[in-house]
Amino acid sequence: MSNNQLSKYKKAIASYLKVDDARVFLFWKGRVGLYAILKALGVREDDEVIIPAFTCVVVPNAIIYLGAKPVYVDIESSTYNIDIAQVEKAITSKTKVIIAQNTFGLSPNIDTLLALGQKYGIEVIEDCTHGMGGFYKNKANGTLLKASFFSTQWNKPFSTGIGGIAYINDASLAKKVQEIEANAEVPSLKDNITLSTLIWVRKNLITPQTYWLAVNTYRWLSEKNIITGSSQGDELDRPIMPKGFLKGLSTAQARVGTKEIIHLDKYVTHQRKIAQEYDIFFAKLGVHIQKIDADYVHSYLKYPLLVKDRKGFIQRANEQKIELGEWFNSPIHPIEKDHQLWQYTWGSNPIAEKLSQHIINLPTGINIDNTYLTKIKAFILSEKDNLIIS
Ligand SMILES: Cc1ncc(COP(=O)(O)O)c(C=O)c1O
Repeated sequence: MSNNQLSKYKKAIASYLKVDDARVFLFWKGRVGLYAILKALGVREDDEVIIPAFTCVVVPNAIIYLGAKPVYVDIESSTYNIDIAQVEKAITSKTKVIIAQNTFGLSPNIDTLLALGQKYGIEVIEDCTHGMGGFYKNKANGTLLKASFFSTQWNKPFSTGIGGIAYINDASLAKKVQEIEANAEVPSLKDNITLSTLIWVRKNLITPQTYWLAVNTYRWLSEKNIITGSSQGDELDRPIMPKGFLKGLSTAQARVGTKEIIHLDKYVTHQRKIAQEYDIFFAKLGVHIQKIDADYVHSYLKYPLLVKDRKGFIQRANEQKIELGEWFNSPIHPIEKDHQLWQYTWGSNPIAEKLSQHIINLPTGINIDNTYLTKIKAFILSEKDNLIIS
């Protein structure tokens, strides 16, 4: 393995975040970065970790792999982020960590979560998988707390196919994460070749016309473990750590990441501009939009919208080749049954449960030009009666 390639990538990330590259660690996926941070923080059997009840299942998976318990806290319907008033009620003597998640690139109220952590002696870490490129009180998301992790999976602010980053803002914790990184499995030649091929296909062969066919084929192949996917089938079946989970980043990923991160500012500026256009459009329709607050410069990885009939909305959008996201179709996306396997009790988080039945994400990415945006707006107008006005 070329450590040189990995070091170059670490330097590029550190330069973007304006931090020390010795505090940046690389993993096969974001979820592995989360696992490494929790392990380094000493999370173990019977500990509790507080997370929003509106997340990806790989988050509770990482907690359960360590023998700890995910404690799900409901979200606020106005921000899609964890309801801080309920976080305090969920704290017990077993609570070890609170995860502050940037849902869709919308930052939570970090200061209030941190103050709670300090009050009870609990670590607060940032799930920055959606929020890279955003700012909170003029500081880059992911640099605000003791530790954070990022994802560079297909749909993320910049992509290395799949990929994860951890940034540690604390010397003794960094030493522990470094050890975990050093002992992680090294990606095989096959991993490198498969990922390079997938990245090439994505860049050169996928058009708006072939997008949905490609996404569905990719999901099917990765769930069957036929190709390297965002999630292996067994991660979605039960929370037992799959073989080879604790893996480092490959040189193929690092090479792409080093080239891609240079464009991150351009991508995020574009995301913000498209989000602003949606804001103006939805304000006229009377649809709830995020409050603008001087503390936050959100990155708007996706733009959330609530609709009455989601299935129909997505189907009609697909017919028009409009590429929508489906985050989060469950409090532990994409799990739709057997929630108890993840220690989730259905009925315990009514807001997240309700929103997960009605949410869709509008695209904000660099491929959304004026023509595409006009088409999306026209489609939404044709669905006006289907929108949830709140
Ligand atoms: C909120 C959230 N956290 C963590 C992750 C894990 O990231 P990765 O797919 O890189 O493991 C995801 C997945 O997309 C996510 O949506």
